[in-house]
Amino acid sequence: MSQELKQTIKDMVIVGKGILAADESVKTATKRLASIGVESTEETRRQYRNVMLAAPGMEKYICGVILYEETLHQKSNDGILFPEVLSSKGIVPGIKVDEGLADFDSSAEQYTRGLDGLGDRLEKYKEAGTRFAKWRAVYSISENTPTEKLIQRNAHDLAKYAKICQQHGFVPIVEPEVLIDGTHSIDACHKVNEKVLRAVFDALNKENVIIDCAILKPSMVISGKEANSRAGVDEVARRTVKCLKATVPEELPSINFLSGGQTPQEATAHLNRIHTLGEDLPWYVSFSYARALQDPALKAWQGKDENIPKAQKAFVKRAKLNSLATMGKYKEEMENEE
Ligand code: 13P
Repeated sequence: MSQELKQTIKDMVIVGKGILAADESVKTATKRLASIGVESTEETRRQYRNVMLAAPGMEKYICGVILYEETLHQKSNDGILFPEVLSSKGIVPGIKVDEGLADFDSSAEQYTRGLDGLGDRLEKYKEAGTRFAKWRAVYSISENTPTEKLIQRNAHDLAKYAKICQQHGFVPIVEPEVLIDGTHSIDACHKVNEKVLRAVFDALNKENVIIDCAILKPSMVISGKEANSRAGVDEVARRTVKCLKATVPEELPSINFLSGGQTPQEATAHLNRIHTLGEDLPWYVSFSYARALQDPALKAWQGKDENIPKAQKAFVKRAKLNSLATMGKYKEEMENEE
């Protein structure tokens, strides 16, 4: 079993490459499509996935894609099942396995559902060709949140999920997302991230999760979206590295950030700066973006077939810029290049 996990890690931890999160739930995909005036149906969601997953050349920059259950059984415009489209390009298909958020403890917070029957679902997903999984927990920052109770609950559930994944031969992506919404300072974000990550790794250890066969998908340490004055690129990068070094064991193979509402340019610039600080990073550090990789393509596509080539170009360009960022080779002026 651990041989299988190790091979998946090998296929997903590749210099210059990262992960595309294309696992928006029906609800989230509907929101994205509404932003370009397209009605959300099974077919329009398939067309949207096709823009990204069938984009020529994306395999140069992307080594794994997180899919949503519906997409597993859908086909590209060329009639090939999406997981096969990816595998044939050497990209590892993965699957979002959490079942979304629910109210927690009658407070303003939410926990993540999906542990019931997870093992059986993983067996089904394995038949469909996926080899890794994702589970997202969320934490909001306000005067009273996140509560210690939620931090412990999420850590516990993330660890249980990771353990079950590994027992079924899936590499778990552990995603504790500290939300960017709010007016909080970068300092507040730093403290919360540190507390959350400590709790997560304590729980993973207690559950005997094999750390070198797991991937962490954290938020960057960043000011709240509505904060009065927001920290610059340099401070975000420094604080993020400091926080990760204080909490993440060295044997973890890869850290792949979520973009969490940063603009595509911000998400790339931050990742790039993390790699130009001159800090020794014990893990591979890359991206697992959804919005920051797909938004420009979504806008270029507009739901029209004739725009597919333009949209795919926009997507591959973003993937390339993020690939350069993982090597500290991104420059702002590249934004204006073809
Ligand atoms: P964003 O990059 O849009 O935050 O999405 C990443 C993700 O997978 C959220 O679960």
